[in-house]
Amino acid sequence: MPTQLDLVVAGRPQTSCIHLDASLASLPALAAGRQVVLVVDANVRRLHGTRLPDWPLLEIEAGEATKTLATCERLARALVDQGVDRSTLIVGVGGGVTCDVTGFVGSTLLRGVPFGFVPTTLLAQVDAAIGGKNGVNLGGLKNLVGTVTQPEFVLSDHALLATLPPREVGCGIAEAIKTAAVGDAALFALIEASLDRLLQGDEQAAARVVEGAVRTKVRLVAEDERDHGPRRLLNFGHTLGHAIEKVFGTSHGEAVAAGMTAAGRLSVRRGLLPAAEGERLERLIERAGLPLSYPSDRWPDLVAAIGHDKKRVRRRQAGVLLRAIGDGVVIEVDDEEWRDMRP
Ligand code: GLY
Repeated sequence: MPTQLDLVVAGRPQTSCIHLDASLASLPALAAGRQVVLVVDANVRRLHGTRLPDWPLLEIEAGEATKTLATCERLARALVDQGVDRSTLIVGVGGGVTCDVTGFVGSTLLRGVPFGFVPTTLLAQVDAAIGGKNGVNLGGLKNLVGTVTQPEFVLSDHALLATLPPREVGCGIAEAIKTAAVGDAALFALIEASLDRLLQGDEQAAARVVEGAVRTKVRLVAEDERDHGPRRLLNFGHTLGHAIEKVFGTSHGEAVAAGMTAAGRLSVRRGLLPAAEGERLERLIERAGLPLSYPSDRWPDLVAAIGHDKKRVRRRQAGVLLRAIGDGVVIEVDDEEWRDMRP
């Protein structure tokens, strides 16, 4: 008679301490005397290098093309050369790419070393640095390989956003709109009311929107870290968004903006969302200087890219639609329905 043993590991709750409205000057206190290695890209080194503590610093290339296993291997080898052990703290200072790569290496090297993030873009402060997803791209597919491991801490210094180009600010606003649209009507209203100041780089306005977006994301991730339930709401705009990003090389935030527009229109078409609410979403996206659409001539490529999305099951995949501003719903969407959303 075969014997079956179930190994049930007692839950290992992970805590990630998110410091909002904080100062980069408090980073040494978070390191608490440990050996630290910083990971940055060339832009962050140029813009903020003189404000960083005097710790060993490893540089990765800037840009989405860097988010590969090859980069992670180079980084892991460099960290080994620095003599890291399981007590070493690795700190990624930068945007979403730096957070992803640092988190992936941190959560796999030596089967896991402590790591933290100092997000320097609005997109990373509202979304990428929060929630423990650490993914890299493979064969043109976004975040196909990755881990879900929480950073020990996230330190958000909104003063770091002062050097962001306006288009990058827009990309961060796109992710904040996404979080608000699916889970926080008050945050949506706040973004509407403070959008002009956000676009002008007002630090107080950014602080309030980052706090609202992080609070909502923390609520969803705490319920569903592994992305099988309510966390999936945060994929709003991402089915088409990832396809647009892949086919046109559009930045993530702008692609998500066009993806949210299409998902909003599908929500209205399905009778889930009142047309006036769909218009409200589009008005905010447009006011933020973000694209509502994309060139339709590459539609077959987009449809093929949707088919390759990692969340897809057969010809249907979980899509995120809206029932109201602030109330998203995860629902099966047939490939044909996205096909019908051709601009
Ligand atoms: N960026 C979506 C998530 O973290 O779940």
